[in-house]
Amino acid sequence: MIVVRDLADLRRQRAGLPNPHGLVPTMGFLHEGHLSLVRQAKRECGSVGVSIFVNPSQFGPQEDLAAYPRDLPRDLALLEAEGVDLVWTPEAEALYPRDFQTWVTVDSVSRPLEGERRPGHFRGVATIVATLFHAFEPQRAYFGQKDAQQTVVVRRMTADLAFDVEVVVCPTVREDDGLALSSRNTYLSPEERRAAPVLYRSLSAAAAAFAAGERETERLRELLMAHLKQEPLARTQYVSVADLDTLDELQGPVTRALLSMAVFIGKTRLIDNVVVGDR
Ligand code: PAJ
Repeated sequence: MIVVRDLADLRRQRAGLPNPHGLVPTMGFLHEGHLSLVRQAKRECGSVGVSIFVNPSQFGPQEDLAAYPRDLPRDLALLEAEGVDLVWTPEAEALYPRDFQTWVTVDSVSRPLEGERRPGHFRGVATIVATLFHAFEPQRAYFGQKDAQQTVVVRRMTADLAFDVEVVVCPTVREDDGLALSSRNTYLSPEERRAAPVLYRSLSAAAAAFAAGERETERLRELLMAHLKQEPLARTQYVSVADLDTLDELQGPVTRALLSMAVFIGKTRLIDNVVVGDR
């Protein structure tokens, strides 16, 4: 496994790797969710690259950039064991020099849901993903359904900027009790950890109601809220029943939808989602 820090080294090493090249962008502190993307990339590509970069521009001023968990030696050992070919661990100063001033802004799909609560977040994501696409020149790039809006934003950016990259979305990996794996789960106290599966319980209840024939968006929203209210440690920021492509909030009866939520468990903000109906 080749590990590089400089962009020039990355390009040189990448040029020697077989296509199709599969890129898995990450912020490190890897878990089974990240590794599931790496494994899918390994199955589908001639070579696999991973970026590990805690991207400062996607964190808001009040967010957890400084506290974000990091463990590079452990991450590299995990990626080596998966047979990854190339890892890029760039420095923030190299990617964002002092005179940096070029941003990728994706309009309407960046606005609702996470975009509304985390202003500037998707500008940071779209910009760094565009930079990663230029650096690795992958034929495929792997993202998790866990961050549903991110996949919509990245797809839009990829199409609009004519990147010749197939965006592949992989299923959310969960703990046995349903909690979606996330680097931020490490912030939870034992008591909060016991409360955290309420997100998936709530999504599952609404999905079960949909499967049983419930189609009214307002009723689905009520079901999502009803479960969250039962957990005293949970403070709901939003629940949403949205269009899978536009992410607009839906009204009336629906045939398919993205059910999603952001919930504070103590100080930790968790997000999760499920898709109901036909894709
Ligand atoms: P990060 O949070 O490290 O996640 C990297 C990738 O792993 C993302 O595509 C994310 O959706 C996926 N992922 C995280 N948890 C997952 C889970 N439980 N199951 C399946 N996939 C999961 O997302 C980012 O980093 C950044 O925004 C990034 C795209 C790297 C740009 O900085």
